[in-house]
Amino acid sequence: MNLDQLQKMLSKDFIFGASTSAYQIEGATKVDGRGASIWDEFTQKKGKIAGGHTGEIACDHYHRYPSDIKIMQQLNLDAYRFSISWPRILPQGEGSINQAGLDFYKKLIDNLLEAGIRPFVTLFHWDMPAALYHSKGGFRHRDVSKIFADYVEVVVKNLGDQVKDWITINEPFEHAALGHFIGSHAPGHHSLGDFLKVMHHQLMGHGAAMERIRHFSPKAKAGITLSLTPIRPATNSNKDQWAAKLGNQLLSYIALDPLYKKSYPDLIQKQLRWFWPKVEPGDMDLIGQKTDFVGINHYNCEYASYRWYIPFLKSWFSGTKVASSESERNGRRYTSMGWEVYPPGMAEVLRWLREDYGNPSVFITENGAAFDDTVKAGKISDNKRIDYLKDYLQEVANAKKSGSQVKGYFVWSLLDNFEWAAGYNKRFGLVYVDYQNQNRIIKESGHWYASLIQQLKKGQEAPTTQQRSFKQ
Ligand code: GCO
Repeated sequence: MNLDQLQKMLSKDFIFGASTSAYQIEGATKVDGRGASIWDEFTQKKGKIAGGHTGEIACDHYHRYPSDIKIMQQLNLDAYRFSISWPRILPQGEGSINQAGLDFYKKLIDNLLEAGIRPFVTLFHWDMPAALYHSKGGFRHRDVSKIFADYVEVVVKNLGDQVKDWITINEPFEHAALGHFIGSHAPGHHSLGDFLKVMHHQLMGHGAAMERIRHFSPKAKAGITLSLTPIRPATNSNKDQWAAKLGNQLLSYIALDPLYKKSYPDLIQKQLRWFWPKVEPGDMDLIGQKTDFVGINHYNCEYASYRWYIPFLKSWFSGTKVASSESERNGRRYTSMGWEVYPPGMAEVLRWLREDYGNPSVFITENGAAFDDTVKAGKISDNKRIDYLKDYLQEVANAKKSGSQVKGYFVWSLLDNFEWAAGYNKRFGLVYVDYQNQNRIIKESGHWYASLIQQLKKGQEAPTTQQRSFKQ
């Protein structure tokens, strides 16, 4: 990465941050009136989560947020993206408000603002209140879109004076597909029909939430966060190219098209017509209303192969299995999730937005990598993560130069945390968490990121890895 060139391409008001989510870091799942979420229940089911891990303690951020904010300052973060736990605010998902939950987030946000860190708040990062799942089926039920907006109204009314950047939903596709079709995420269903209903009703929930945010926090900026994973054909055969086209519609355009074109992609509607959810008049206008930005989570690309015997989709997609460790093969590097390190994938998703979806304002709300980090003499020399971040950030800068409206970049993640079905076995953090004693150690990548931000912000030549000098 040519840091001098990077500095020229990343405008002065470009923001650098780090991201987390409530269930993955807070812990305190039974504290101060919080209600249960579907993830509290799912992690109790035998065999669902590596090591039987749960979010009961996680990084204990609920109690340790003041010192975690001091670490964010050491990292020179401009912004911090976190999510609000719906059942911490409304233990039953609707109805009575848990004031202690609101108080926690108010203190967190007050501390962030005092530290000069801009809060980016995600309103739904998959922790559906268990009560709503049992009573209504979660987002499988159309009514939950409005119930979600009612919850958003409570949050925005109470925290809207301090928060000016709202993200309605994190990765609707992942919650819909992994939670309701693949079954590896909560609530663990295996139904194409449920997947499509949950996808449609989350997008409606996003639209309904946008209306409440516009009304109760008119000066705020708001959008949605999507994961965009380009699917490439396993071979150049026509059939594999067809499978890749289907894959891009299924994983990415299933959200981008409704949001920016008010319609669903054609091929998946055809292939999945027997399962297609009820789309009522007005739904697509609600979903496709104007937003201020789109958040993009991009990590890697996957492959598609045509498989005639696979019902309806007739395609197999790589990437559904988590690897045991990082690896290198055939000249390609893979993170410990098994995801190929392929920085041009970032250029591809930003090109989609620039050329096919009206070139909206974009925040990279998640980009990062899990590697097999080890502590040696109190240090984590995660140079592979530094190289990953450099290469992907360079692609962001190149895309900006080509006209992409990228306004900021958030590393996933601030802290090592609960990586869903992989439990605590996968470490994505700029900061290492020793789960035995909750000690934090800033990794070399965290020091590197802090120094990069400092140099880019001050217009100085950013350092090479060897030259870096950090705040101790
Ligand atoms: C996601 C989620 C995060 C994950 C991260 C690594 O994008 O899947 O937002 O919660 O932990 O992406 O998988």
